[in-house]
Amino acid sequence: MSNWWSEVRTFVREYRTNFKHTGAVLPSGSSLGKALTRFVRKRDGATAPLAILEVGPGTGAVTRHIAASLQAGDVLHLSELNTSFVELLRKRFDHQPPFCNVAEQVRVFHGPVEELPHDMQYDLIISGLPLNNFNVDEVEHIFGIFQKLLKPGGTLSFFEYIGIRKVRAMVSDAPGKERLRGIARCMEGVLQRGEIHRDHVWPNVPPAYVHHVRFGCDK
Ligand SMILES: C[S@@+](CC[C@H](N)C(=O)[O-])C[C@H]1O[C@@H](n2cnc3c(N)ncnc32)[C@H](O)[C@@H]1O
Repeated sequence: MSNWWSEVRTFVREYRTNFKHTGAVLPSGSSLGKALTRFVRKRDGATAPLAILEVGPGTGAVTRHIAASLQAGDVLHLSELNTSFVELLRKRFDHQPPFCNVAEQVRVFHGPVEELPHDMQYDLIISGLPLNNFNVDEVEHIFGIFQKLLKPGGTLSFFEYIGIRKVRAMVSDAPGKERLRGIARCMEGVLQRGEIHRDHVWPNVPPAYVHHVRFGCDK
């Protein structure tokens, strides 16, 4: 079986057994992966190595793009709570290009980002977390963690499927609608405070926005 099919099969299986945390039926497509990794490639002439954290790498659909753009001296940490995904990622870093080309620069943390040791700060955080599946408190807590884990001036890149909250609200009960409204408020607050760029990724299933945020940046 090809790598792509094996990746899709693993993803669909995990989606069916753990919808809340997996949050998508398919791994992200290449256009979404490229948009999420915009700031791994765009270094604005800076030569200093980057410390990058990817949260929720899943089967590695976005990690592949990070790995392909990693430069000497950069470090990449991954935080993934799902055991099957962690096993698959470790195999990829063992054998499969472009993952294995950068294996020495990578650390895989098997656990939720909420439990990641706070002994390091990052220039970039790239998140694949399905925030619309979480409670409002969890979303607020996670954005707080991202802010603490970022260096001053560091960038958070994350995505959301376009229109998905409205569609889900239509089929949700009253508490579900309230939860989605709370998430929208929380996200709007974060974006108003620091969104520096937004990509519209139409060639993805479903289409997505990628938000790039610098906390504390005056807009
Ligand atoms: C929507 S999938 C994205 C996977 C991959 N980044 C992609 O784009 O194809 C969400 C991923 O986040 C992981 N995840 C969910 N909650 C997490 C948490 N609190 N900490 C770390 N990973 C988490 C899931 O296990 C899953 O791999």
